Amino acid sequence: MSERPGRAGAAGGGARAPQNPSQAAKVPRPPQSPGRTLKAPQVQQTLRQTEEASQIIRTEKLSKSFGTNAVLKEVTLGIPEKKISAVIGQSGTGKSVLFKTIMGMLKPDQGRVWFRDTELTALKPNDLIAIRRRFGYSFQNAALFDSMTVGENLAFPLREVLRIRDRGEIRRRVAEMLEWIELPAIEAKRPDELSGGMRKRIGVARALIMQPEVLFFDEPTTGLDPVLSETINNLVVRVNRELRITCVMITHDIPAAFRIADKIAFLDQGYIIAEGSPKEVALSKRDMVRNFLRISFSELKVWRNDTLR
Ligand SMILES: Nc1ncnc2c1ncn2[C@@H]1O[C@H](COP(=O)(O)OP(=O)(O)O)[C@@H](O)[C@H]1O
Ligand SMILES: [Mg+2]
Repeated sequence: MSERPGRAGAAGGGARAPQNPSQAAKVPRPPQSPGRTLKAPQVQQTLRQTEEASQIIRTEKLSKSFGTNAVLKEVTLGIPEKKISAVIGQSGTGKSVLFKTIMGMLKPDQGRVWFRDTELTALKPNDLIAIRRRFGYSFQNAALFDSMTVGENLAFPLREVLRIRDRGEIRRRVAEMLEWIELPAIEAKRPDELSGGMRKRIGVARALIMQPEVLFFDEPTTGLDPVLSETINNLVVRVNRELRITCVMITHDIPAAFRIADKIAFLDQGYIIAEGSPKEVALSKRDMVRNFLRISFSELKVWRNDTLR
């Protein structure tokens, strides 16, 4: 696949400047509560526009424990708007918990989550539900309703969440969506008649039909063979480039993350230990990151050599 046309050079972090943690800590935050005085609101505003306008989501010192299991430890992370970000790291290290906390499915013990200028962690439940409609998510198991056809699966959020009543409009939007994911005219099929890769694409389509501003993918390629994985990775790129949707993915497919992501965050035991453009993360001096990447990329080489021989 060719270099992304819209992507700035990797060196130095590119246009949307994925920040290293020390820079991130210096970025000014939006006003935090009405009672808090800001000494120089205009300066804050200007800085925010130039330095943060590109970040659609930010977490600020997000911590989450389950009993004595401290899973997230002061995670501060920015998600650049209309880019692809990848969260990588070992299994069980808190990646899914981070996603769920950002999306408001889990409540953090401490810290904040911002969506543009709105602090999600300060919203009342109903307001959070409303704003969460701007997020789509595609989880590891596509979780389609097996008792419904593909068409009904896609129509469901239109009817039940967006409350669209016009059957013609629902049919049209479902058909357009299926065409866009290159599975046209399969409305009448049932999920169990489809291959794993097709089900995954329908799962993505069901999230996309709501026209989200941010789409979260939790391990979209886990359990798929390399060819199907490539199809799904390419779909993420199309979602980002053609629909201009901010994509955030958790992935085990490290070579794919380095190929398609604009920003990579490496989570280890609840801490972000490397963050930035693929090049910046690849040059990380942390042993944990270096070993993880060395193993991930050397597996790829072995596989390639075997196939080419
Ligand atoms: N709802 C939950 N209740 C209790 N522990 C949880 C819950 N969800 C996740 N955990 C724990 O949090 C840790 C991180 O899990 P997770 O975020 O799923 O890891 P991964 O990086 O593989 O996505 C694990 O130790 C897991 O057991
Ligand atoms: Mg997970």
